[in-house]
Amino acid sequence: MSKEKVIQSLRGMKDISNEESKLFTYFCENAAKIAKNYGFEYIETPILEETSLFKRSVGESSDIVNKEMYQFIDKGENDVCLRPEGTAGVVRSFIQNKLDRAGGIKKWYYHGPMFRYERPQKGRLREFHQFGVEVFGISSVYEDANIIMMLKEILDFFQIGHKLQLNSLGCKECMPIYRENLVKHLTSFKEELCEDCNRRIKTNPIRVLDCKNEKCQNLLKDAPKITYNLCNSCNEDFNKLKEILDFNNVDYEIDSNLVRGLDYYSKTAFEFVSDEIGSQSAIAGGGRYDRLVEFLGGRETPGVGFAIGIERLLELVKINEKSEDIYYVGALSEDALNQAIKVANLKRKTNKTYIEYTPRGFGKHFNLAEKNGANIVVLIGDDELKSNMLYVKNISTQEEKKIKVEEL
Ligand code: HAM
Repeated sequence: MSKEKVIQSLRGMKDISNEESKLFTYFCENAAKIAKNYGFEYIETPILEETSLFKRSVGESSDIVNKEMYQFIDKGENDVCLRPEGTAGVVRSFIQNKLDRAGGIKKWYYHGPMFRYERPQKGRLREFHQFGVEVFGISSVYEDANIIMMLKEILDFFQIGHKLQLNSLGCKECMPIYRENLVKHLTSFKEELCEDCNRRIKTNPIRVLDCKNEKCQNLLKDAPKITYNLCNSCNEDFNKLKEILDFNNVDYEIDSNLVRGLDYYSKTAFEFVSDEIGSQSAIAGGGRYDRLVEFLGGRETPGVGFAIGIERLLELVKINEKSEDIYYVGALSEDALNQAIKVANLKRKTNKTYIEYTPRGFGKHFNLAEKNGANIVVLIGDDELKSNMLYVKNISTQEEKKIKVEEL
């Protein structure tokens, strides 16, 4: 008899189960709670979108669109792709629902899978998950500071050590002048730069600053810096942002080579990095995208947002020690079983509670309770049934007592 080959998940894609799924839901629930406190509402957009959405937003010259898209023609001859990031879909929805015409402010948060056909390695997957937020209709740099502080609050909640790197990418006034100067500078020694840099000088020169090649980085030391070439308005905003962060005791480093891998940013750009997760050190990134709504056919609307890479962050999350009590309810006799089920259902209204359907002795119940991670064991035997009492033991403190059912 031939044995069928066992099918594995695709390279760079994995299940989220067991301990990791506990952490995953714990993260999403608590990050969502923080986002709601900051006035964000949940949005869910499709995973599959028209390919042109990402070409026009993330940018045709970016690696994400150029090399990493899961793109195909569907049965209706539509050119579609699995979303590589969340911002473009949210902007598409904002415009499609005519919210750009309505004016006003919109704040959304989302979480879900993203797909990039990258070379998988530690912290770099082909299917990964992001938790992101997007704000529309606020041009004030106070909002940039606000979302940076919110992101910091999320990282602090999960006790994740991090560094904030900050840059300004200028606007439609100052960026083109800077880009031209940069190209002039780079062209003077382009033979010494790597092949990728030479391609980028033509397609997207500021991405040259981001080259990981050590030789290129040395050559780039004297390149003009965007932070010294901002127009008055961008400079004022950048200074104001630093001032607000200083006032709120948020540490940051200025990194004028931080250009981000997506083309839609203007003004503020930032990343949160950790040196505890290896070479893929960015846990979150974001910035302002005041022209993106317009690029996608909407009425000019300012926007700013960020996204956290959930898998990268989970490598660093420890569930808070003071987690809630978990109950285990068991019967010591067949007769006590109905009462045990009733008690477990009552307890479930406030706590996570396991019920064991087979009547067993003390020792067996304690073994099962431990296996299930419960710290409070509630047992009912014939004596307890007659007196409407419960035997309760707290495994963590070793305290044991008999209490009335109503007292539980
Ligand atoms: P991004 O920097 O491309 O930004 O991605 C955000 C985060 O997703 C990264 O910092 C990283 O933690 C995680 N990430 C990216 N690629 C992978 C991968 N292959 N495997 C695992 N994790 C990954 C954006 O996507 C923007 N949409 C963020 C944004 C929202 N900007 C404004 N609003």
